[in-house]
Amino acid sequence: MPITNNLNAFLGAAMLGVISAAGMFLVEHYRQERRRYEMAKDMARMDKELSIVKKDLQDLMNKKRERLLSFLPFVLPHRQYLTTNGGAAPPVRNSNVLHLKWGEGTFWGQKKKTQTVSLYQVLADIDRKSNEEVVEELNSCLVKLQDLCLEHPGNAELLWRIGKCHYKLLEKSEDKEFIQQQLKKGLDACTKALELAPDSGDAHKWTAILIGARSDYVPMKERIADSHLFKLHVDMALRHLPNDSTLHHMLGRFSYEVAGLKWYERKVASTLFATPPNATFEEALEHFMECEKLSNHDWKENKLFVAKCKVAQGEYKEAVTWLDEAKACKQGDCMDDKIDKEVNALLAKYNSYR
Ligand SMILES: *[C@@H]1O[C@H](CO)[C@@H](O)[C@H](O)[C@H]1NC(C)=O
Ligand SMILES: *[C@@H]1O[C@H](CO)[C@@H](O)[C@H](O)[C@H]1NC(C)=O
Repeated sequence: MPITNNLNAFLGAAMLGVISAAGMFLVEHYRQERRRYEMAKDMARMDKELSIVKKDLQDLMNKKRERLLSFLPFVLPHRQYLTTNGGAAPPVRNSNVLHLKWGEGTFWGQKKKTQTVSLYQVLADIDRKSNEEVVEELNSCLVKLQDLCLEHPGNAELLWRIGKCHYKLLEKSEDKEFIQQQLKKGLDACTKALELAPDSGDAHKWTAILIGARSDYVPMKERIADSHLFKLHVDMALRHLPNDSTLHHMLGRFSYEVAGLKWYERKVASTLFATPPNATFEEALEHFMECEKLSNHDWKENKLFVAKCKVAQGEYKEAVTWLDEAKACKQGDCMDDKIDKEVNALLAKYNSYR
């Protein structure tokens, strides 16, 4: 689980780093002597953003048509997967939605006799497979989910899982066009899930994660709007899933990045684009501590961020204690290399406060 958690949260909050970096970038432009040159470059950038806006408009106009298409399954798969699943942990909380049985009625026009696998079990299987992070499995989960959507139209439990699979697929890719396709399909599915079930914590969670992931592909103004939207969906998700440690970590990352915006970055962003959200390091720390409390494993990245909040608050001695804890967590995956680097750099810097 730590692997999944880390990646989700990392991408979910990544956009805020981008906002911060972009604000800084702009300020540096005006600070430097080469002002005319920089202004020319700004003009080029504005032009570029304008063309992105134009493209977005075009996309929006095409959206309705594409949205329909994106829900059509590509193939009609076999149904061998409808075998019983050896006691996988029930993944879904809202059991009302799930008391649907297979085999009552027709199946592609064919009468089924005794299919006893519930949708609940099928979803447990899909959840297990989609958490394994294997591209082939994710693709087959998607096909299954799309297929199930035909059997059970208007089921939010299916739709947010489609969003999740699209996210997991884009996470595995470097191909920008593919990533954008997955983002769009994932967000369409989650949007539809939320229309059907506005109280679904999972639908809000995956909507937030997908919004976070699209930040690299939208112009700055929209990115700031997205940051507000991200917060809104994480808050909504937490209302229904108050014990989800990933959500607390995401909110911590959000608050940490926003709290780190300098006043002049906020000014530049507000003037040129839109008002960024507000948050403090205290709030960020609260969320990370809540994550510590709820997480069922030692989460290295979360401990690093507790330490970073402590550094931001000038509590270096405590920061070092948390860095030590982060360092003591076992190595999970390659994501941890990046985290280790930061832990070690901070330890080197604040070691004297022990
Ligand atoms: C969250 O955890 C607390 C304490 O373990 C528990 O009492 C509560 O029912 C949980 N809430 C949900 C929505 O699962
Ligand atoms: C952030 O805080 C400032 C100052 O307290 C306030 O003027 C601004 O409206 C706030 N912005 C948001 C998005 O809440």
